[in-house]
Amino acid sequence: MLILNKKDLEELLPMEEVLDVLAKGFREAKEGRCVVPVRFHLNVEEYQGQFLFMPAFLPGLKQSGTKIVSVFPQNTSKGKPTIYATYLLSDPTTGELLAIMEGATLTGIRTGGTSGLATRYLAKKDAKILGVIGAGFQSFFQVRAIQAVRPIEEVRAFDVDQKRLQNFCQSMSPYIKVSPVPNPSEAVRQSDILVTSTTSKTPVFSGKDLKPGAHINAIGAFRPDMREVDDETILRSKIVVDTFEGCLSEAGDLLIPMGEGKLKKEAVCGDLGDLVTGRKMVRESNEEITFFKSVGFAMEDVVTAHHAYEKAIREGRGQKIEVF
Ligand SMILES: NC(=O)c1ccc[n+]([C@@H]2O[C@H](COP(=O)([O-])OP(=O)(O)OC[C@H]3O[C@@H](n4cnc5c(N)ncnc54)[C@H](O)[C@@H]3O)[C@@H](O)[C@H]2O)c1
Repeated sequence: MLILNKKDLEELLPMEEVLDVLAKGFREAKEGRCVVPVRFHLNVEEYQGQFLFMPAFLPGLKQSGTKIVSVFPQNTSKGKPTIYATYLLSDPTTGELLAIMEGATLTGIRTGGTSGLATRYLAKKDAKILGVIGAGFQSFFQVRAIQAVRPIEEVRAFDVDQKRLQNFCQSMSPYIKVSPVPNPSEAVRQSDILVTSTTSKTPVFSGKDLKPGAHINAIGAFRPDMREVDDETILRSKIVVDTFEGCLSEAGDLLIPMGEGKLKKEAVCGDLGDLVTGRKMVRESNEEITFFKSVGFAMEDVVTAHHAYEKAIREGRGQKIEVF
């Protein structure tokens, strides 16, 4: 059995390869070759946290595995990451455990890649200015993925936590200059692409600030009672989801306006599989606003983990251990 740590995954999973692997996975899912139950949530109310259990099986690609992920937003005040995760990659023909991987890095890379893929299909081709709201762990991968698909020249970032904002700007500096801004409007008004990647339960910017033609990737809110975007954003946008099943059971960004009768289910134009397979084209002009909502999909983990595993075997990377 192989163990792959954070450094192994960072080196084995360049964003360009992850985008291709995810595109293949979304195609498999769209064509019905993907078994992914809606993930199981275990609430830990005493500590305002949750464990999520995310199994996946792709019969066509012969891949299977499970992610166990914890989301504890209060960890920030303890100087610990919000998310810890472990990935267990298994052989679907025998059930044998093939690898254990550090799952937080895997999650960051595959979530970034998924937004990158959505951005490839939805953002204007010449998008140059990227706004980021929420300067935490995920945002690093979001920016790297968007840079892989659009010619980004300028990044403006906002976070309610100044220290985190400074650290984020610093961590991005080898790749692109990120300017910290003092309020959300400054991150939104000029942006061709916007990422919201926060743990907020309430909207983090005003939809009135969006410029025509903008594309938004909203990745933060993952429960029916959480939302990062307001009604204005939703009503001004053409909406695409990572999966209908996941978003229509977990995405407060959509479920709250739907529950209030402001948004109809039919207003969701399609899922990422529709874009990748060419079944739907969503952006029709440079003036339209597009909105991609993701809550995470276990298929993304298994295809990314499997790619890392196969490369690691070929390149002799990772740590082999005997468990029997
Ligand atoms: N869609 C997916 O597939 C997916 C995958 C992984 C994580 N997530 C979710 O993304 C969110 C972010 O994850 P993370 O690991 O980056 O967490 P994190 O704690 O590292 O970062 C979140 C950041 O949001 C900031 N923030 C909170 N409220 C804000 C507000 N109102 N305005 C601006 N900034 C604000 C915090 O200060 C923090 O810096 C979480 O809710 C997580 O569950 C989604």
